[in-house]
Amino acid sequence: MKIGIIGCGYVFDLYMLTIGRHENIEIAGIYDIRSEQAERVGKFFGLRVYPDRESILGDPEIEVIANLTSIEAHYEVNKAILRAGKHVYCEKPFVTDMDEARELFALAENLGLRISCAPSNALSATSQTMWKAAQDKAVGDVRMVYAEFDNQPVYLMNPETWRSRSGTPWPYVHEYESGCTWEHVGYHLAWMCAIFGPVRSVTSFSKMTLPDKTDLPMDPADTPDFSVGCLDFESGVVGRVTCSIAAPYDHQMRIIGNRGVIHTNTYREYECPVYIERFGKLALDMRRMRLARTNSFVQWLVGIGGRKVPLIVTPPPGSKRLPRKSMSPRAIYKRFMSNQIGIQDKAIGLAELCDAIATGRPHFPSHDFTLHLTELTLAIQGAGPDGLRHQLTSRFDPVALPERSRAAAPDYRDYARQSWREKIWQRLREVLRKGPAPTNPLI
Ligand SMILES: NC(=O)c1ccc[n+]([C@@H]2O[C@H](COP(=O)([O-])OP(=O)(O)OC[C@H]3O[C@@H](n4cnc5c(N)ncnc54)[C@H](O)[C@@H]3O)[C@@H](O)[C@H]2O)c1
Repeated sequence: MKIGIIGCGYVFDLYMLTIGRHENIEIAGIYDIRSEQAERVGKFFGLRVYPDRESILGDPEIEVIANLTSIEAHYEVNKAILRAGKHVYCEKPFVTDMDEARELFALAENLGLRISCAPSNALSATSQTMWKAAQDKAVGDVRMVYAEFDNQPVYLMNPETWRSRSGTPWPYVHEYESGCTWEHVGYHLAWMCAIFGPVRSVTSFSKMTLPDKTDLPMDPADTPDFSVGCLDFESGVVGRVTCSIAAPYDHQMRIIGNRGVIHTNTYREYECPVYIERFGKLALDMRRMRLARTNSFVQWLVGIGGRKVPLIVTPPPGSKRLPRKSMSPRAIYKRFMSNQIGIQDKAIGLAELCDAIATGRPHFPSHDFTLHLTELTLAIQGAGPDGLRHQLTSRFDPVALPERSRAAAPDYRDYARQSWREKIWQRLREVLRKGPAPTNPLI
């Protein structure tokens, strides 16, 4: 399907990293309000550059337009795309208020068009695996879900020098002005809501903790750079999501059941390994020891951290995994780095929308889902230092795990067993421990 792209800044390069793996997408051309920027990246990636917005909107071959412009431009550009009779794929956050969001969805529905929105990480192999494992009850009944988005003290990392592959600067002052919650919380809300359904209410706190992160003037000057939101899901699960740019990198996702925990190191790698730890008595007891909490070999021996499980890698039809064939030292180095840093397949959401349009099935995320995420994002960002409980006015029908993921996955309960190492240590401990067990193992 032919697509156009409006907005060719920093994130555009991230799309270009993986868009080639999705054979159902063909880029007809690009456009940016800064023509020199569009010309520069168009030349770098060998893409056609439209001279003005009318020509990209008016190209009859284009069915979908990806809106990768700055947040403040999303509403107006989305509206223009819909009015031109094309489907929209928009970068997150969708728009800056709920009225704009409702108006755009109503317009799309009246015109028989679709809007889809980033983030796309609920479609990643990692999220799909956690989703299926939770559904399989590999950790019993899910009670809580924790998500961290501590994105490093970026102000100490010279963000003014950061460039994309094609040389576009990272818009760090703009990121400070919008704030890390507004920019990032959607990544965690997306997989949490996909798996656990709509949220009944959210109780949040947000505040600026780093007034000195830049010498440059900011507008507004006091956007929160720390937030925490507690989510009360309709399904009975309770969630907690944290965002900051003060604490070091921590992007963990944890699903906690009454029998164990499903966890992964980061949402950002779309094929990040997933672990299931069934709460064993030995591992729970051993966690009292600092050695067991801090030493990864001891953790491995007694079962803390659990077992790595096979990932469900099921990108939308027409998509493929990136080739990993060459054995040159450079290719091996690149492979090592990409295994460490991971690939974020931003284009997977676009591929999902194009496939859904082509086959006439509903796309993910639905309009109602995006509206709900927009409301949650606004509530957490806007909570302020006095805190706020917000009752959600929007909701969506719970989402089903895609059939292709369900069909490709094992039954994850099979991975939630004690390992032979745990059994040996458990037995050894019983033999070595003479006399009665401590009455309160928490002391
Ligand atoms: N920077 C990141 O790391 C990152 C990561 C994920 C998502 N995002 C999201 O991607 C979007 C874009 O962010 P970015 O970092 O690429 O910003 P950017 O400032 O680097 O790029 C935005 C581009 O949009 C263009 N633009 C603005 N208004 C326009 C309009 N009306 N018509 C056409 N072009 C217009 C600008 O000229 C600029 O080239 C935002 O929604 C952001 O939240 C950014």
